[in-house]
Amino acid sequence: MYHSKLDHFPDGFLWGAASAAYQVEGAFDTDGKGPSVWDDFAHHSGKTFKGTNGNVAVDHYHHYKQDIALMAEQGLKAYRFSVAWSRIIPDGEGEINQAGLDFYIRLVDELIAHNIEAILTLYHWDLPLALQEKYNGWESRQTIQAFIKYCRVLFEALGEKVKYWITFNEQNVFTAMGYRWEAHPPIVSDLKRMYAANHMINLANAEAIQLFHQMVHNGKIGPSFGYGPTYSLNSRPDNILAALNGHEINNRWWMDIYCKGSYPKFAYKQLKELGIAPEVTEADRALLKSAKPDFLGINYYHGGTMQENRIENISEQGQKAKEFSAIDPYLMQPKEEQSQAPEIPMFESVSNPYLETTAWGWEIDPVGFRVALREIYAEYDLPIFITENGLGAFDTVEEDGSIQDDDRIQYLNNHILEMRKALTDGVELIGYCAWSFTDLLSWLNGYKKRYGFVYVNRDDDSEKDLARIPKKSFYWYQDLINQNGLNVTEKI
Ligand code: BG6
Repeated sequence: MYHSKLDHFPDGFLWGAASAAYQVEGAFDTDGKGPSVWDDFAHHSGKTFKGTNGNVAVDHYHHYKQDIALMAEQGLKAYRFSVAWSRIIPDGEGEINQAGLDFYIRLVDELIAHNIEAILTLYHWDLPLALQEKYNGWESRQTIQAFIKYCRVLFEALGEKVKYWITFNEQNVFTAMGYRWEAHPPIVSDLKRMYAANHMINLANAEAIQLFHQMVHNGKIGPSFGYGPTYSLNSRPDNILAALNGHEINNRWWMDIYCKGSYPKFAYKQLKELGIAPEVTEADRALLKSAKPDFLGINYYHGGTMQENRIENISEQGQKAKEFSAIDPYLMQPKEEQSQAPEIPMFESVSNPYLETTAWGWEIDPVGFRVALREIYAEYDLPIFITENGLGAFDTVEEDGSIQDDDRIQYLNNHILEMRKALTDGVELIGYCAWSFTDLLSWLNGYKKRYGFVYVNRDDDSEKDLARIPKKSFYWYQDLINQNGLNVTEKI
């Protein structure tokens, strides 16, 4: 679809930026906070870059006023953050820790005082450790009940003040990383357990949505999903079919549950035959069908390209793709291990010959963003809130103290342009949160993979003085917000 003129973003479009508790807050044991699985994992597993952890992170817990003042200066209309469950209920299910709750009440009040809409994520991966140890975390229905108790506390405390709520952040990523690739807690490699835990989280998501609709009358709630379009390498029919399989396993497995309340049929049959499909009771089915999100949060970084999986005879393209050794959370089959994943002989992920990559090997694909938005809106017919999109890069402070992050400006401009085209196509959009506002801890890549509009003076080895320095992109986005995105008209 070509448009000679692009639509304007609607008045009230929520231009924002995002973060997550473990990645920014620090204060890991302050004011009665209990440990989360990430506190434990980052300290003991040897799996994070140079052993980096979120003990101090960028100390947003103590700098939140300064950070919000900067958000206001930039003109942000929305700020997406997550709540650390173990601040509110230190052991996950018992006593409420008022001091922890008060922190988020102060944070939200400060945002409101600056006319910034608070977007609250209930779960961004930091499960209270006690629930993991006592119940095996998300493998147990008891954790669902604990989650619902925690949600109730927040709905009561902040239901009047926060309009947009996110249930789970990137369920596809944290289940695959935690239960398949042993790269996140609980460091498991077992597909049956992964699909079973994932099913519990689906139920928790549905119950939380139901409770929200009973308790909060002026709010909206939905999950945030890490969506990537799945391309076929070429027009070879076998590869088209492979891309269809990839779409069903990577996207629809979650999106269908959220929006239609049922698992996609072909993938479910495949998993059942392999003995790894989740067990779904009649009561589960009824619950899943009854809970509908009000909007879809979408995190977009990139998609994937697929061809027929020749497990025994990996193609030259497949070999080339192995050059990227890092696990890519957005591909259910990390490239270097896919030939060893015989349980899903449905597709093989390959590099896309048309796309460049970031320094961490993530494909840069702004048009894929438009494709994603179109697919989602056509299939699920719900308003979309972009809850993450951004570029992880090495940023350096110049001699004059400035940070010239032109690559980030280019990345954001080109993605926002495609979003504007999707809007012009007819996709209903609520807002856009860039990832991230300040620099923060990248779960596995430490502090040098930076995403922020605001540089934070710390590195992997030292917390330094944690000074905040707006980057060039800070002022670029300030201008964009001022013009409600009208200056985004061309690819740069
Ligand atoms: C998303 C997460 O997966 O991508 C964020 O929701 C994360 O928490 C972001 O930081 C970027 O990932 P990474 O691995 O580059 O930090």
